[in-house]
Amino acid sequence: MDVTLNPDPKFSKIDHLFVLLAENEKRSPIKSVQRVLSASGFTGRADEAITVLSDTPRKITLMGLGKRDAITLRSIRAALYSIGKTARKQRDRSIAVSVPDGIEDVRVIADFLSQSDYKYDSYITVKKDGQGPINATLIPPEKLGAKEIKRIETELRALRSGVRTVRDLGNAPANLITPAHLAERAVEIARSVGVKSTVYGKKEIERMKMGGLLAVNRGSAEEPRFIVLEYSPRKAKKHVALVGKGITFDSGGISIKPAEKMEEMKFDMCGAAAVIGTIEAAAKLELPVKITGAIPSTENLPSGSAYKPGDIITMMNGKTVEIVNTDAEGRMILGDALHYASELKPDHLIDYATLTGAVVVALASEAAGLFSNDDALARKLIESGDRAGERLWRMPVWDDYKDLIRSEWADMKNSGGRWGGAITAAVFLKEFVDCQSWAHLDIAGTAYAEAETPREARGATGAGVRVTVAFLESLSRS
Ligand code: BES
Ligand code: MN
Ligand code: ZN
Repeated sequence: MDVTLNPDPKFSKIDHLFVLLAENEKRSPIKSVQRVLSASGFTGRADEAITVLSDTPRKITLMGLGKRDAITLRSIRAALYSIGKTARKQRDRSIAVSVPDGIEDVRVIADFLSQSDYKYDSYITVKKDGQGPINATLIPPEKLGAKEIKRIETELRALRSGVRTVRDLGNAPANLITPAHLAERAVEIARSVGVKSTVYGKKEIERMKMGGLLAVNRGSAEEPRFIVLEYSPRKAKKHVALVGKGITFDSGGISIKPAEKMEEMKFDMCGAAAVIGTIEAAAKLELPVKITGAIPSTENLPSGSAYKPGDIITMMNGKTVEIVNTDAEGRMILGDALHYASELKPDHLIDYATLTGAVVVALASEAAGLFSNDDALARKLIESGDRAGERLWRMPVWDDYKDLIRSEWADMKNSGGRWGGAITAAVFLKEFVDCQSWAHLDIAGTAYAEAETPREARGATGAGVRVTVAFLESLSRS
């Protein structure tokens, strides 16, 4: 939904006002709300909600957030998400939302509110709720000047379209988003924000000797793509390279996955989508940071020409890999892309990948796994994530784990087996990184929700954009 900030909205123009309240908060500057508060016995306990008919606005819903000290970004998100759902169901066209003061960043709240009614319904032929677009007015909890409001609204729109891009690309089915289509979408989005794009096809990928990407592609009837996006603002002080895993469908290949939930592997390009969405947002924000996006993209399918366990592949940087599991394909395509990006000598190199089931075992969907060779970068990313409402949790990339991917026949093998699976994957990637400041985000657990949660719709979440935009903003401030 479209969100604007207004400290003093015209309630005659609003269908439904939602008021989030901490427990025992008995005062509201809005007269009609004050009346309901005094008369209804509403206490503000967590999950308490009442809706009453009023005059202006026509409907008022009070929602409890629980004890003030116990309110978290998580509980606010849940309340905002239920607002979006309610507004959709009740066909509200214009809503207003007020939140208790001093609790969270206005932009973060506006951001989550703007995503709260998101639904991927491009292929629902008869739409159930017949809902048109919803306009939301967020009543800022703090005193903000007109200039500040403008700034936050601009930032919000940039972030919103970046996150939306990731969700739409991620949710789209794999018969639609093939590597060629992903590249086309990337080019269109780049063009819309004045970002330069270059797409390499199979011939050029062969010429570049991207052995990992070509090996994974061998089983697929769709040609691979290597997509490069370049946002180069004039006053850039730093250069950040972003690499994203673009497996448009991961069947596992010859080491095929079980049928159950295999359909979720259309989300295996969410890292690529995160790079596209982040660059879109950064360009819209006109951040003074040079950003290069590098996206290797292919399907991973079994066929008579597919790469096989036992094969030895020479990667772009010359290192050799013994394939022991064709389902460990993400690291094969990322190895080449990380080498390519390292050669650009960026100040920071960050990759995004739905890389391992093991990181989901470790962290479920509460945090992305963070792996880095640079403590300062890791710290900044974690802080940025905390600010933006996207958690990262650091895990080790000690060389000791290299033993697990040692190969008898090649420089390394592509899987270290079950134990420490997210770590051995990161240790593998590190073999292709030549940059003193690298971070790898394993977003397998956070990129999509397997089922609807109290905070989020089922499907792609937009993981990666919020934390990275916050990080890039912090870079442009320092
Ligand atoms: N795309 C998967 C990882 C994944 C799993 C993403 C679950 C989202 C949800 C990746 O390519 C994969 O198959 N990884 C294997 C690696 C193993 C064979 C070493 C895994 O995690 O099982
Ligand atoms: Mn796989
Ligand atoms: Zn995969």
